[in-house]
Amino acid sequence: MSAQIIDGKLLSQQLRTEVKERAARLTERGNRPGLCVILVGADPASQVYVRNKVAACEECGFYSVLEKYDADFTQEQLLERIRVRNNDPDIHGILVQLPLPKHINAQAIIGAIAAEKDVDGFHISNAGGLMTGNPLFRPCTPYGVMKMLESINYPIRGANAVVVGASNIVGKPQAMLLLQAGATITICNSKTRDLGSHTRNADILVVATGIRNIVTADMVKPGAVVIDVGMNRDPEGKLCGDVDYSATREVAGYITPVPGGVGPMTITMLLVNTIEAAERVANHAGVVH
Ligand code: GUN
Repeated sequence: MSAQIIDGKLLSQQLRTEVKERAARLTERGNRPGLCVILVGADPASQVYVRNKVAACEECGFYSVLEKYDADFTQEQLLERIRVRNNDPDIHGILVQLPLPKHINAQAIIGAIAAEKDVDGFHISNAGGLMTGNPLFRPCTPYGVMKMLESINYPIRGANAVVVGASNIVGKPQAMLLLQAGATITICNSKTRDLGSHTRNADILVVATGIRNIVTADMVKPGAVVIDVGMNRDPEGKLCGDVDYSATREVAGYITPVPGGVGPMTITMLLVNTIEAAERVANHAGVVH
């Protein structure tokens, strides 16, 4: 039997329709949601990502600014830009695209972003909030994965969830969100011995390593939900994920494609976080929405 596809593009469109309406309501009341995206250096993948983020904002009626700096931009200069945007009332969300050039300390930069504008959810106070169950913002990719599970009404409580990958951006926050939702969590990484012995236990398998084909069909429990966060290129240059898609489709109950799976959801959840940031400001200013 072939798995049901969880279509991230379609789900994104549905969620973005709601985001657009919320943005219009805020704009009518003089609180147009605003996002500032900062890119340092010329990493080609990052350039595509930030362009897509800014385009999505515009499509939903947000105010958006893209600040682009050369790779030799200093940490102090970047900190100054963050100070400016922390104090800019037209900006509700600040996103500094990662990775940053090696001479810049990413943790220092993330820590300088005002927690209430940290729409990536990477600030230590948001990471701590996630750990204790009450974050201001959830990191966009894992948040998008939770929305995908919600879209198929998956009963997460009591399920075995295996996350392959332990990054601060995806793996760790993903595990926290699944734990919060009542799953039993196993966190693996690219060095895990006998990875299949863990993944074969998974009712929900989230793979985020950046290694093509790290998960093959024989490593998947029949009927499992397989969420592929990877974004790689195969030898022919075609986009692909971390999971051997064509064979795994025949084993899994649900699977996300690459492209068209988690990718669009990440950007959508960035829009949702930015709307929430703008609504919080509007509410504190006494504006009813
Ligand atoms: N680089 C890869 N993914 C992300 C993300 O979600 N946010 C930021 N800021 N940088 C990234």
